[in-house]
Amino acid sequence: MRVLVTGGAGYIGSANVDALIAAGHDAAVFDSLNQGHRSAVNEAARFYEGDLADASAIEAAVSEFRPDSIMHFASHTLVGESMEKPFMYLGENTTNAINLLEAALSQGVERFILSSTANLFDKTEKIPIAPDERIVPGSPYGESKYFIERLLHWAHVTKGLRYAALRYFNAAGCTPVRGEDHDPETHLIPLLLQVALGQRENIKIFGDDFNTPDGSCVRDYIHIEDLAQAHILALEALHEREVLHYNLGNGNGSSVKEVVESVREITGHPVPAEVTPRRPGDPDVLIADSSKIREELGWEPRYPDLKSIIQSAWDWHNKHPDGYED
Ligand code: UFG
Repeated sequence: MRVLVTGGAGYIGSANVDALIAAGHDAAVFDSLNQGHRSAVNEAARFYEGDLADASAIEAAVSEFRPDSIMHFASHTLVGESMEKPFMYLGENTTNAINLLEAALSQGVERFILSSTANLFDKTEKIPIAPDERIVPGSPYGESKYFIERLLHWAHVTKGLRYAALRYFNAAGCTPVRGEDHDPETHLIPLLLQVALGQRENIKIFGDDFNTPDGSCVRDYIHIEDLAQAHILALEALHEREVLHYNLGNGNGSSVKEVVESVREITGHPVPAEVTPRRPGDPDVLIADSSKIREELGWEPRYPDLKSIIQSAWDWHNKHPDGYED
């Protein structure tokens, strides 16, 4: 298939481009390089530098590359930031997706895969969280992804676009060649590894008064290679199926304190930690029930446990202590 990947120079998108190419697909990347890195783009992929806010730029890329499918990773992705800048998230994530969809539909794209999020599920009725759980976004970020799921619903109803919404829990880990390098970095595991590398003095644990066994937030960490595999399976399944919604996680919850402890064990560094007030927008517990994608598409994670995920990240960060060169 011919797949255009927005955000394909970013952390999760770049690993997906590698997986697409390894599976024999043609891939092109559309990325503004605001967060992404040119050197993270697979050499076999065509590269378009552009911003989804510029409708003519995405229209030109789609009409030149002529993809049959789109994978949409590019977006503002930070729960905490979205609580400070709600309308940037609600506005830009949504209008950028509209620009992308307009271009896709006008050029006859048939399939669309969205990076959606576990942040659709605040105040859940059941843990682990199944895809038919009540949607109550936990932040403007989660709400913006829900808006995009609704855009896809209407693109399907009115224009027949087939789509998959993949709701990731906490993406983590690195492949031997693709790693996590955000500026500024805000994610728990890379920040912990920066402490272990001596680049940061300590880690702040955002709150220990959550409704969890040790008081810190519980999350379900899932390896980016396993996410990539899910995208490839969903892409193929959209030949037969028209609409897919899946939750993607390992089904194991790890608290922030447990993640800190695992990083100490794996790196051998004491990793000092200090408890600070909560970060707005963080739900207590997010654990996925991924049985639907396992049963329907045969998805099987290769990194089912936190330690192997952290080990893969430590290997990459050790090799690239300053991240990508560009
Ligand atoms: N945390 C800390 N200290 C830090 C950083 C994070 O205690 O310095 C905590 C957070 O409060 C949270 C957990 O570690 O409980 C994980 O936080 P991350 O910032 O690594 O990730 P988030 O859970 O905020 O969000 C990630 C993605 C979102 C996605 C969400 C789905 O960034 O895009 O997972 O669960 F929506």
